[in-house]
Amino acid sequence: MKKIKLTSLSHGSGCGCKMTRKDLAIVLSHLPKIADPNIIVGTATADDAAVYKIDDKRAIVQTVDFFTPIVDDPYAYGQISAANSISDIYAMGGRPLFALSIIAFPIKTLPASILEEIVKGGIDKAKEAGIEIIGGHSIDDPEPKYGLTVTGVVELDKVVRNDMARPGDALILTKPIGTGIISKAIKSGKASEEDITEVIRVMSFLNKGASEAMVEAGIKAATDITGFGFLGHLYGMLKASGVGARLVLSSIPILHGVMGYVKKGHIPGGTKNNLDYVKEKIIWKDSITDETKYILADAQTSGGLLISCQKDKKERLITLLSNANCLAVSEIGEVVEDKENRIWIS
Ligand code: CO
Ligand code: CO
Repeated sequence: MKKIKLTSLSHGSGCGCKMTRKDLAIVLSHLPKIADPNIIVGTATADDAAVYKIDDKRAIVQTVDFFTPIVDDPYAYGQISAANSISDIYAMGGRPLFALSIIAFPIKTLPASILEEIVKGGIDKAKEAGIEIIGGHSIDDPEPKYGLTVTGVVELDKVVRNDMARPGDALILTKPIGTGIISKAIKSGKASEEDITEVIRVMSFLNKGASEAMVEAGIKAATDITGFGFLGHLYGMLKASGVGARLVLSSIPILHGVMGYVKKGHIPGGTKNNLDYVKEKIIWKDSITDETKYILADAQTSGGLLISCQKDKKERLITLLSNANCLAVSEIGEVVEDKENRIWIS
């Protein structure tokens, strides 16, 4: 099979091609305010997807995401990108209905068979999610990009938001972290075959089961972990909810090999930006090293759900997540009262 040679591209995962939160906030602050009363979730809380009420019972959930290749295998890249795009529907407690694709590809310099594999990966992953890709738009571009816009539906009383975390909630994570660091090592040609296989498995794994479990358990607050990293998305949820968190470092699931790659300097630019963005909010235990800090801030692609779970629902949620074969079912800490949205890590 033909491969995309990541090393030949100007960009790639975690290169910092993603806009930082700061850049984004400046742009958004200059745009006109949103006024439509049917908007249940808009831009104000920086949630995962837009939620738009269509009748007394239901809302449309809509999201869009695309990025440059992060693995050499084009089929896997298509799968990962599709899983990542659909995840924002799952993070809202929604059910995906259909998708459209966004394609940028250097059709004159790379063989069309590569694009075919990318698209096939996306279609197969969408099928696994129970949806079809029914159109899209493509352009000729020196650097490949692929992703989906996904439309879903959610019952109004089941919307899972990022601004509903409450003191006393348990924080539960459903995938291990470190995919950005491993992707960076892949781009440098330094990742082991074993770690490449594992990171592809993790990034292409759908958050479908995790989402269905949290909806069934009656969860009110969650987000998915993507470009702003575990700490960035946790902070986003805490800020939107007006609370803080206490974490237990040893309970945070981390992919095999990640620490080794960090020690060799495979730290994506986006990961460094992420740590920079949250660092003033974090109270670290003295013994926590810089390497660990980078891992916790690592920019993820298609990460797991971070669920804020009311105490009385925890046991049931954990059972449901385990039954759904989630890649991790890790209770990593708890939500605490704190108006400054700080994160204590011990
Ligand atoms: Co998201
Ligand atoms: Co997104």
